[in-house]
Amino acid sequence: MTDTPDRAANTMWGGRFDDGPDAIMEAINASIGFDRRLAREDVEGSRAHAAMLAATGIITEEDAGAIREGLLTVLSEIERGAFAFSTALEDIHMNVESRLRELIGPAAGRLHTARSRNDQVASDFRLWVRGRCDAAVDGIAALQRALVAQAEAGADCPMPGFTHLQVAQPVTWGHHMLAYVEMLGRDSGRFADARARMNECPLGAAALAGTSFPIDRQMTAATLGFDRPAANSLDAVSDRDFALEYLAAATICATHLSRLAEELVIWSSAQFRFVTMSDRWSTGSSIMPQKKNPDAAELIRAKIGRILGANVALLTVMKGLPLAYSKDMQEDKEQVFDAADSLDLALAAMAGMVADMTANRAALEAAAATGFSTATDLADWLVRVAGLPFREAHHVTGALVARAEAAGCDLPDLPLADMRAAHPAITEDVYSVLGVANSVASRTSYGGTAPARVREQIARWKEILA
Ligand code: ARG
Repeated sequence: MTDTPDRAANTMWGGRFDDGPDAIMEAINASIGFDRRLAREDVEGSRAHAAMLAATGIITEEDAGAIREGLLTVLSEIERGAFAFSTALEDIHMNVESRLRELIGPAAGRLHTARSRNDQVASDFRLWVRGRCDAAVDGIAALQRALVAQAEAGADCPMPGFTHLQVAQPVTWGHHMLAYVEMLGRDSGRFADARARMNECPLGAAALAGTSFPIDRQMTAATLGFDRPAANSLDAVSDRDFALEYLAAATICATHLSRLAEELVIWSSAQFRFVTMSDRWSTGSSIMPQKKNPDAAELIRAKIGRILGANVALLTVMKGLPLAYSKDMQEDKEQVFDAADSLDLALAAMAGMVADMTANRAALEAAAATGFSTATDLADWLVRVAGLPFREAHHVTGALVARAEAAGCDLPDLPLADMRAAHPAITEDVYSVLGVANSVASRTSYGGTAPARVREQIARWKEILA
């Protein structure tokens, strides 16, 4: 970064200034250190604006042509790393325009006709966030595909289903994987909804009031892929709800990733051994030679901290701001950049980790049978076959669980005599519902864990994700 050593007044807006800014003022004011990430969107927006200015006769075709060509040169310099950014020029918008002037001369000064940095930055940032909505939708789909493949491989594999992290009822591995596919499906929908709502073009709102030039806002909106121009110039330059919606969607998605990550951390432990993580997504310990740590899962579990932090930070920046633009809003970008980078990385890491992990069928199946997991099946049998009211069936089953616990065995190991002592209506047939495979196969209600139901949902998701 180059800094102008002399304290000359700013060439972009310094007409009424005799003196340049204090060095600390420059440090707090400048955003070029981070908003250079908007270079592509800034050039895209300026090229659309210049074309519109020519089409409406506000500037000549010749000037517009020079501006549009020059902007491409500026962008290629930036992307090649051959651009000298200046803190004195504050932000990406003035850095680009200043370089354009060096390249094409005074015609560059016509680009800012009927425009302000306020509608410019609002447009640039919308384009950027819009792109990250699309990236999130793609990243989510990749993760969903990996989860569906896992679900398919273990559609009928029993595992313990938990409530309170205590064994509750047997479920299938496929069902558990698909639970996350559903969550991620809603996440994807939230990004798509946010994208649709934010897809209005602020350009032409100018500083805050619109402009007296005969601009064509439909044209710039269409050129930039927006559905329409924003209908109120004050709103267009001063709201960042589009970024907040992105962050809200990212926060919820990161919460889902964090929960899955937590399960993978638990499941890969020596105590569970439900899954084996591949070496590609694990790390070792510098002192304990036996260790294989699920670092990627742990970091994904933690990313929610930054993403939620960004969401809270931007909400806090925006609350209480009077209309229209205030410089406070420059604090929007770093938060969103960091959250977007964190989310995309977490999605990609999770997709890779899920694709490469192995579900340990024997461990899952054995664990599914522990913790009296088929007690509800026993109670349901007493209702269905013996005709007991559910409350009574619950009580009888509870007594049998206590008996098994005292005997140090599982429910299917209790002799029939013990069963009948708890209730005389119990017959040999009860054992048919005490196995985990029967248990999961019986849960055929829509959305239930039965392998047949799980396979239906796998087929549905494969079609959606195709
Ligand atoms: N760098 C500024 C931002 O990020 C651009 C807009 C500046 N507008 C202004 N009136 N100072 O918000």
